Amino acid sequence: MTANTHHATRYAFPETFQWGVAAAAAQIEGGAYADGKGESVWDSYAKVPGKIKNGDNLDVACDHYHRFPEDFALMRQLGIEHYRLSISWPRIYPEGDGDVNQAGLDYYHRLFDSMEANGITPWVTLFHWDLPQSLEARFGGWRSRETVNAFARYAETVVKAFSSRVKHWFTLNEIVAFTQRAYGMERNAPGIVCDLKTVNQTFHHALLCHGHAVRSVREYGQEGSIVGLVDNPLVPIPLSESQGDIDAAQACFIEDSMRVLNPIYRGEYSTEYIEKFGEENVPTVQERDFELITAECDFIGLNIYWGYYVRAGADGQRERVPFPPDYPTASVDWLKITPESLYWGPRHIRDVYGDQKIYIAESGCGYHDEPLNENGECLDLQRRDLVRSYLKELHRAIQDGIDVRGYFLWSFMDNFEWGEGYGIRFGIIHMDYETLKRTPKLSAIWYSEVIRNNTLYP
Ligand code: NOJ
Repeated sequence: MTANTHHATRYAFPETFQWGVAAAAAQIEGGAYADGKGESVWDSYAKVPGKIKNGDNLDVACDHYHRFPEDFALMRQLGIEHYRLSISWPRIYPEGDGDVNQAGLDYYHRLFDSMEANGITPWVTLFHWDLPQSLEARFGGWRSRETVNAFARYAETVVKAFSSRVKHWFTLNEIVAFTQRAYGMERNAPGIVCDLKTVNQTFHHALLCHGHAVRSVREYGQEGSIVGLVDNPLVPIPLSESQGDIDAAQACFIEDSMRVLNPIYRGEYSTEYIEKFGEENVPTVQERDFELITAECDFIGLNIYWGYYVRAGADGQRERVPFPPDYPTASVDWLKITPESLYWGPRHIRDVYGDQKIYIAESGCGYHDEPLNENGECLDLQRRDLVRSYLKELHRAIQDGIDVRGYFLWSFMDNFEWGEGYGIRFGIIHMDYETLKRTPKLSAIWYSEVIRNNTLYP
């Protein structure tokens, strides 16, 4: 018997695997009006009573705008070397277009200096939902092609400004979230419910922006730069791993992917798309749009928190299986605890769109973490167990030869969870919103060990 027999099973990750944490500008920075920053659609949305729980807003958030040196020092202490952050468009272009705000660029230069000093590699998302309000007010935001033109300039400005310091780029974060959930329902800002054709058009505009961002990186990025989209596909999980159930799940995946992944990889709105939405609701497409949309990427980023179950029904048709009552969730009810989603997400990508390099750009969970004592100690066992169970499934995907290169845990610290405000906490660092004191939770200490060992112990 050897000394380590109590770790009968261990899940070692590939040597080159990249472990990180993720966050987004609007959710952590605060400084909502500092140094010439313009208003974002979320800043104005938060002013409308009833839109954000508890009347929370983004004015101060975690005050990362001023406290980033402390945050990067903490990251370093925990041995976290990869950080996915986003740049705030309205800091760079307060009106979305027009004049560039040098103070905004300077801020991110200071931020990258500090990351560099702490040995942290930046992975930059160009757009994580904070559309300049002025573009919404003047043109109708994502409904207008003017926003695409403005984004193209913004992306070019940012890539040019930071190409010497940033090598890893994500174009847009979760297209469905700022299109469908913002113009098809009132869940995200600006929350204006539009007709189906308009909603489909917002997707199309977002896809064009993705293409512009890829081109900017190709043109102005440093040698060896990589770029890709961050998508949050729905993840159908076969109820059993029989071939019939797997096929049924894959068919659902293809159907769910028709608005984002299919146009990006296949350059079309599929026949299924036209059948589903009707000819009259297919977006207006200009000549060469698909050339831009299909601009070759280096990887795909996936945000995966949950999946749903599917099986082959009696007639061989795919059947989406409802969750039974009392199925476990995190503290947000959409987050069904489904570790296999982290296996099946990458697996469907590979099976449907071929071998792609994959990064898990986000995964994690939200709870009402409360400190146990005055030291702020926070024993978030449920987060540790959830993340561990998901990571085992990610390991399985890698064992099966799926090319997963890295994983970014959402999130570094508790932050502004959009419509939920500050009530739901996704961080591995606890935030005391009164004092802005940061305290690593149990999960942070645990994750830091995972990174150090590059191995998961059950
Ligand atoms: C996805 C989004 O990208 C992020 O902003 C959000 O906070 C997390 N999901 C958790 O809901």
